[in-house]
Amino acid sequence: MQSIIVKAPGRINLIGEHTDYNNGFVLPAAIQQAAIVSISKRTDNQIHLTAVDIPDELIIESFHNLSVSEKQWANYVIGVVAQIIQKFPLPSGFNLAVTSDIPIGAGLSSSAAIECAVAFGINELFSLGIDKMELANMAQKAEHEFAGVQCGIMDQFASLFGKKDHVILLDCQTMEYHYFPLLLEGYQIILFDTGIKHELASSEYNIRRKECEQGVALMQLKYPTISSLRDATIEILDECVDSKEHPIVYNRCRYVIEEIVRTKNACVDLQNNDLVAFGNKMFDTHEGLSNMYDVSCPELDLLVDLVKNNDSVVGARMMGGGFGGCTINIVKSAFTAQTIHEIKMAFYEKMGITINHYLVSIEDGAIVL
Ligand code: GLA
Repeated sequence: MQSIIVKAPGRINLIGEHTDYNNGFVLPAAIQQAAIVSISKRTDNQIHLTAVDIPDELIIESFHNLSVSEKQWANYVIGVVAQIIQKFPLPSGFNLAVTSDIPIGAGLSSSAAIECAVAFGINELFSLGIDKMELANMAQKAEHEFAGVQCGIMDQFASLFGKKDHVILLDCQTMEYHYFPLLLEGYQIILFDTGIKHELASSEYNIRRKECEQGVALMQLKYPTISSLRDATIEILDECVDSKEHPIVYNRCRYVIEEIVRTKNACVDLQNNDLVAFGNKMFDTHEGLSNMYDVSCPELDLLVDLVKNNDSVVGARMMGGGFGGCTINIVKSAFTAQTIHEIKMAFYEKMGITINHYLVSIEDGAIVL
């Protein structure tokens, strides 16, 4: 095989936010919007990259000599190649072109989709035999080392392991996972995109991670076996982290501990086909993300407020890392185009921004086209 075209999707996450890097549970699914990458072998060691949508190009003289580029889009590719070649020698360089219909900055993991498409495609083209879990780990490390975001594993995992019409319950401690059919009869998932991404998103993300680690360190003083917030309880938190002395760390940990339990309970709701109970938990998650974890923003809060008292909406919350991007909403079929229009109008009146919405369809993870 001399060339290949692969597709790797973006993701939604129903519940379990900011829990992945705390060894908790997440409930993501791959979506129809995806990154598509075409890769062909070269006879030399060069890498020729093309970002079709910008458009932009970059030539790297040798894959033996990779470093962070000024071109952010290129780092999602270079970062993955840097991971692969640490363990798997490449026989030659390659040409790679990437295009994507995942809105950037919408919290739908457009960068993870590119990383996964590149990892999946190179693995297939050069028959490297890397399993999907390792590809996900490599894509995650690329984000850490070349994009500077200390992300968890959820996005890369969902992009590679997604399954049509299923959500994935992933235990980020053991990396065990289960597929749940998402039976949405009479309901649908809709995303409202604030269209904004506040500048501090990446730096604040890394700060949240540190704050969680600080909480764990305080609990370890009394309970040395606690290695992450997954092992903690509210009782242990109350005992070890003084909310007056460490109010921020306390709130961050409290949110995460509650969200880990909430995600487990939400899966029981799903199994009972009780979307109303599930939806209530989504509202609770939003409360926690906004008031305790402090990763929401006025635009996201407004989008949740605007649907909260609508009888056709069973659940809504901000999704992903935060500071912009989308809200995810589970709505009844009675949620019509007219309702969507009214929400957009109300948002425009308050914020002066015209927003987009996306109807979600849940699709398979990365595939060769
Ligand atoms: C981003 C990260 C994920 C996860 C979410 C929050 O999408 O890439 O690893 O932490 O934020 O749940």
